[in-house]
Amino acid sequence: MAQTINTAVTRTDAPRKVTGSATYAADVMPAGMLHGALATSAIAVGTLARIDTAKAEAEPGVIAVFTHENLPDYKPVKGFYAGGPGSASFWPMENARIRYAGQPIAYVVAQTAAAARRGAQLIEARYETDESRITMDADDSFVVGAGEDREGMVTTKGDLAQGLATAAQTVEAEYITPFQHHNPMEMFAATAEWRGDRLTVWMPSQSVRTLRAGIAQAYGLAETSVRVISPFVGGAFGSKAGITPYTMLTIAAAKAVGAPVRLIVTRPQMYTVATFRPESVQRFRLGADAEGKLTAFEHIEMSQTSQFDEVVNPGTHMTRAMYACPNIHTEQRLSRSDTNTGGFMRAPNEMQTFFGLEQAMDELAIKLGMDPVELRRINDTDRHPVADVPFSSRSLMESYDAVARSFGWADRTPEVGSMTDGDWLVGYGCATATYPTNILASNARVRMQGTGLAYIELAAHDVGTGTYTIMAQIAAARLGLPVEACDVVMGEGDMPVAPISGGSTTAASAGSAVHDACIKIGHQIAVQVSAMPQGPLSGVDPAQIALENGILTAPDGQTQPLIEAVASTPEGEVEVIGEFRHKAMTDEMIKATFQGGYGTAGPVTPEMAMFAFGAEMVEVRVHRWTHEIRVPRLHGAFAAGTILNRKTAHSQLMGGMIWGIGSALHEVTETDKPRARFLNTNIAEYLIPVNADVREVRVEMLDERDDYVNPLGVKGIGELGIVGTAAAIANAVHHATGKRLRQLPIRMSDLV
Ligand code: MOS
Repeated sequence: MAQTINTAVTRTDAPRKVTGSATYAADVMPAGMLHGALATSAIAVGTLARIDTAKAEAEPGVIAVFTHENLPDYKPVKGFYAGGPGSASFWPMENARIRYAGQPIAYVVAQTAAAARRGAQLIEARYETDESRITMDADDSFVVGAGEDREGMVTTKGDLAQGLATAAQTVEAEYITPFQHHNPMEMFAATAEWRGDRLTVWMPSQSVRTLRAGIAQAYGLAETSVRVISPFVGGAFGSKAGITPYTMLTIAAAKAVGAPVRLIVTRPQMYTVATFRPESVQRFRLGADAEGKLTAFEHIEMSQTSQFDEVVNPGTHMTRAMYACPNIHTEQRLSRSDTNTGGFMRAPNEMQTFFGLEQAMDELAIKLGMDPVELRRINDTDRHPVADVPFSSRSLMESYDAVARSFGWADRTPEVGSMTDGDWLVGYGCATATYPTNILASNARVRMQGTGLAYIELAAHDVGTGTYTIMAQIAAARLGLPVEACDVVMGEGDMPVAPISGGSTTAASAGSAVHDACIKIGHQIAVQVSAMPQGPLSGVDPAQIALENGILTAPDGQTQPLIEAVASTPEGEVEVIGEFRHKAMTDEMIKATFQGGYGTAGPVTPEMAMFAFGAEMVEVRVHRWTHEIRVPRLHGAFAAGTILNRKTAHSQLMGGMIWGIGSALHEVTETDKPRARFLNTNIAEYLIPVNADVREVRVEMLDERDDYVNPLGVKGIGELGIVGTAAAIANAVHHATGKRLRQLPIRMSDLV
């Protein structure tokens, strides 16, 4: 049997995707389906004084127009994770209140999508407008939570003032990151169909169990009455993790008109009806002795939140884990603006915080006259600096050494502006990448037939990452089957519990449940064949029979292929439920996951700290006269435990690094601050890197073994690649030009 894990396997769903037979949420057309469209608020804060729907209702094809005044049976999700990054606590169209620009104010149902959109444009709204603003005001900011909720939001270790006072060199600086918005290729969409009290919702989702539980709770339905279907997702990255108003409005509209309704959110509306990466200010104070050892580490992160929720993705939890330091102070602050509540976006705090931390480290290295890689080496640690537990594995410096070799870091001359090529100023920069290993409980059902086929089923998701393929690989490896013989079905709420596909958790958590199921198949078949009167394993103690690569082996060396053993049973097949539980998971965490929530254990457990690490190096070229910025080379080396699929993992890391180029040089949601509006709400003006912006991107995946994180030793790689890229580019820009740019994105105009 060929090895299937840690090899490059082409996606099993690739033919379905490229031929168009993969069904996305907006592809379904239940009989009699109607089309929905949203009308959204023109102001950010105030009250709807009057909303006139007459013209919309008169539009040919329009069947119904719903506003806060006439939408029966609209049941927003309350309580169930509302007020968190997956679901805001304020729900539009419950009443006349307007709390953010672009908030839904009316829902039009029509026979065609075009008629619905025309209807939405014909809604006439009058507002009483209150003051609004988008601001990042340090004076107005506050520490997250109160009392016990504050735990971890402020950290103090040692004596920061003393650490700064005794430092040979210090760095004090603020780094600013902007609002960024999701632009997955697949638009946000929801199709809802009621049949009596039974409801089916098709929607691209990173957490079908969360969606099902939230909808069932809102409508007071048993979860068995709600089907949530999401077999394919055309890009998620956090944008499809939660429960958003457009879904609940579509469900209510379908109920009201007595027909299935499908809504495809328009690209501009995607900027206001879902979540985004909030803007942030990262304030660092670092001190180091003459040898470069950190004596003081302070990080105060201030991130934006809405007026009604205190949502934070705490980045100080990540930065404080990076480098050894006796004196640490971190603080997690929020500042309120009149927007919807922000949420998850690929590396939802790490992108912002490492833009700060890894530039601050570069600035410190320059002050110390040290190579920036050596500064990381001197401050590397095998224990978490605050929690004081060992890392389950940490290959940070191995990553730096590997990327330095592939990139040619040794060729760098440290003086600013010392490397040129004709009219191009050349700069080399580096930065650390990391991502927490979050783990959640998961189950998976595996059925193996003696004909040599296996069926794997679980409520996990392939958000474009290759999950179908890696689940098949995990089963194939243990059962001794070809990958193509392992049929994986996922993405429905009533399948065996699997956690949210967010936080880079699916391969580690759901994959471990598939792995466990395959081990159990071996146990179960061992019991059966050992009890048979005849056969190679007859009479052997079943507890002594091992399954490896599809072969059952007794202690005396007798073997039987698993397929043959399964075929010899009366049923000719065996079915089990695999489970992934980790000793660091409390009963409350397991319960939360099984109820559709986020019962995350880690990254820091009472015993260990679990993080993936990497290092990125980049060559930047800045044109001496035009200030054009180019990124001809971007190299990364990463260590994330077991790599299941060298092809899909490579793609994810490379995709993250390319998104990092976008974060550094292109992406920003511009705001009209007094009117609290997002301005460039389309992909013509919201810039992302295109092929011409991306030249050589090289990814190296290191071998790393971690026996603590989970039985597969997988840490997760979905978000790791983006972390550090923007800082590496900023550091390289400084090396080329001497300009230290502490605000994203970095533009030609900053270099004039
Ligand atoms: Mo990722 S931002 O956790 O979907």
